[in-house]
Amino acid sequence: MKVLVTGSGGLIGFETVAFFLKKDVEVIGIDNNMRRYFFGEKGDTTGNIQFLKGLNKKFTNLNLDIRDREKIMKVFTEKGPFDLVVHTAAQPSHDWAAKEPFTDFDVNAVGTLNLLEAFRLHSSKGVFIFTSTNKVYGDTPNKVKLLELEKRYKYDEHQTMNGVSTEGISEEMTLDDNTHSIFGASKAAADIMAQEYGRYFKLNVGIFRGGCLTGPQHSAVELHGFLAYIVDCAINNKPYTIFGYKGKQVRDQIHSKDVVSLFYEFYKNPKQGIAYNLGGGKENSASILEVIDVLENDFRLKLKYTLSDQNRIGDHLCYYSDLTKLKKDYPNWKITISIKDMIKEMIEWRTK
Ligand SMILES: NC(=O)c1ccc[n+]([C@@H]2O[C@H](COP(=O)([O-])OP(=O)(O)OC[C@H]3O[C@@H](n4cnc5c(N)ncnc54)[C@H](O)[C@@H]3O)[C@@H](O)[C@H]2O)c1
Repeated sequence: MKVLVTGSGGLIGFETVAFFLKKDVEVIGIDNNMRRYFFGEKGDTTGNIQFLKGLNKKFTNLNLDIRDREKIMKVFTEKGPFDLVVHTAAQPSHDWAAKEPFTDFDVNAVGTLNLLEAFRLHSSKGVFIFTSTNKVYGDTPNKVKLLELEKRYKYDEHQTMNGVSTEGISEEMTLDDNTHSIFGASKAAADIMAQEYGRYFKLNVGIFRGGCLTGPQHSAVELHGFLAYIVDCAINNKPYTIFGYKGKQVRDQIHSKDVVSLFYEFYKNPKQGIAYNLGGGKENSASILEVIDVLENDFRLKLKYTLSDQNRIGDHLCYYSDLTKLKKDYPNWKITISIKDMIKEMIEWRTK
């Protein structure tokens, strides 16, 4: 088996590479550390690449830009064919995207097309996994009927909107008639193109629309990686700003290990151009205020925070993924790591 992982130094890419190296599979990574350009020194992922190189000699990382169409094609002709391509390289923040829309679109949308086309021409018997985002639904989740509780929002059980129930947001939600943010739009373009490569060209392509994906080695920054960033602030006594919604905004968290175990299930039983919502689901959902409580009550970490009235444009008030479709298609897969366990692991990783 031969696997290609783009974004190999990032959170999900790293976990994917580690997963296959532990199976003694040959893995080619592509990562040019562009995360450092996006987020500065704190976003640097070279340490992750070094770590992976030490895990198994079957890992090679290529310092390539996914925007470079010719070089990407060459990777497929010279190192392929690949049995599995896991495409995670991206500009991942919607705040950052508005600063450089061309860069964001070239990386997220055009970069994805470069990989899909190389895959079609040179690895068409394989499986392609694209890491999309729940931002493809734009701010539609904010039009859902919510109940406001003391520390969080929750979905009202009397919903009329398509794609939402108390189980969460399903793939039935519309992608139209909303504000996506520049990032959401570039990812939606890539998401639809990936679906098309599955359906039109009849290739094995899975699209996974992530909620909050996280893990201990997440090199979090203020604009991206909420759980890891809040843990960083609590440990280092750094002030944390909650942007709007009184801190009651809800997110579902999924550990990168649970993400990758799902990718493996998809690889073993692929489908053509199917999109799934992927997150921790209802069980692994929490508001910012609830996370702050867990930090204080379970780990004796008191966070210094301020509440700003200004929410981020397009930021969801409440989002957790309905995992029904995923669980039906992949019954062997389940979430194994709870939010508390994630926080515990993050603290241990940062204080060891
Ligand atoms: N982490 C989350 O909460 C989350 C949520 C929803 C969706 N996603 C999606 O999942 C994927 C992975 O997210 P992540 O958190 O692992 O991101 P990440 O930022 O940790 O990793 C992405 C990696 O891609 C690399 N990269 C960026 N541009 C590149 C380019 N032009 N060429 C080569 N490499 C490049 C970066 O250097 C980085 O190491 C992304 O597509 C993201 O949009 C993530």
